[in-house]
Amino acid sequence: MYPNQRNRRLRQNPALRQLVSENQLTSNDLMLPLFIAEGTEVKDPITAMPGCYRLSLDLLRKELKAVADLGIKAVLLFVKVDDALKDNKGTEAFNPEGLMQKAIRTVKSITPDMVVMTDVALDPYSSYGHDGIVEEGKILNDPTVEVLSKMALSHAQAGADFVAPSDMMDGRVLMIRTKLDKAGFTDTGIMSYSAKYASSFYGPFREALDSAPGFGDKRSYQMDPANRLEALTEALRDIEEGADIVMVKPGLAYLDVIRDIRENVEIPIAAYQVSGEYSMLKAAAEKGWLDHDTVMMEQLLAFKRAGANFIATYHAKEAAQLLA
Ligand code: PBG
Repeated sequence: MYPNQRNRRLRQNPALRQLVSENQLTSNDLMLPLFIAEGTEVKDPITAMPGCYRLSLDLLRKELKAVADLGIKAVLLFVKVDDALKDNKGTEAFNPEGLMQKAIRTVKSITPDMVVMTDVALDPYSSYGHDGIVEEGKILNDPTVEVLSKMALSHAQAGADFVAPSDMMDGRVLMIRTKLDKAGFTDTGIMSYSAKYASSFYGPFREALDSAPGFGDKRSYQMDPANRLEALTEALRDIEEGADIVMVKPGLAYLDVIRDIRENVEIPIAAYQVSGEYSMLKAAAEKGWLDHDTVMMEQLLAFKRAGANFIATYHAKEAAQLLA
């Protein structure tokens, strides 16, 4: 009457369930994005991201020690740039004494073993809030790539382990790889935001960095959420150009894309659970509508199941704490 095989046999108790579990989340899988601000003693809460702050460099010591103690192996750095330093060409982006460059040196001096990855894109530096140089309402590709490669090199010179171009210009990975190699930074890696979609889930992040586009949107360079095959094209091209890690972003709404890429490439894949995803869970939990911790862990595990090797997530500390 019943089949010989009963699937529930394997779910009878915790020991059995753990024995046959296909995926596991550990603190090795977590990368924490950090927002850095100018000044001293600055710990600015980000309204739509409860628990996240813009921190000044002097407060990084305590934060990084805590992060390292939790077993988190990597951070992804973002900076909030003063309006006065913004221009159309992102000149400040490759200032050796800029906030990002100082932040890299600071992190490396406090936690030398922490893997430091840096965001490479012009938006926080752009007077237009776009990831590239603007001319007559258009985002220029090749001149932007030129600036991005200088920016990436300055991050490498400051001590970044990996640079992470998030701009979606064509050809930037190749240009960055070439520039790094020529300057002797053959060991500096590239984590490319390969499949980065034009997403409204980035809203809270743009509040955090005051980097929302001043006109239009980012659809002429970030990907159309309708597209799946295109993500594979992007990833394969980036690998050809020299990417060491490819990333999919946002996360949960794009698990199919992670899986597609997983089945087609051999290099590591990162997933970025972005600001809006974090905000949604915080809001629902605040209302008592979802159980924060279990939903968080379920979501993070979903990235592993989809095929990601690690996850950039604002939940990194909370998750690591639960795993400890
Ligand atoms: C910069 C960048 C963005 C994010 C990461 N790098 C914003 C954007 O592209 O508009 C979003 C991250 C998040 O929402 O958590 N190009």
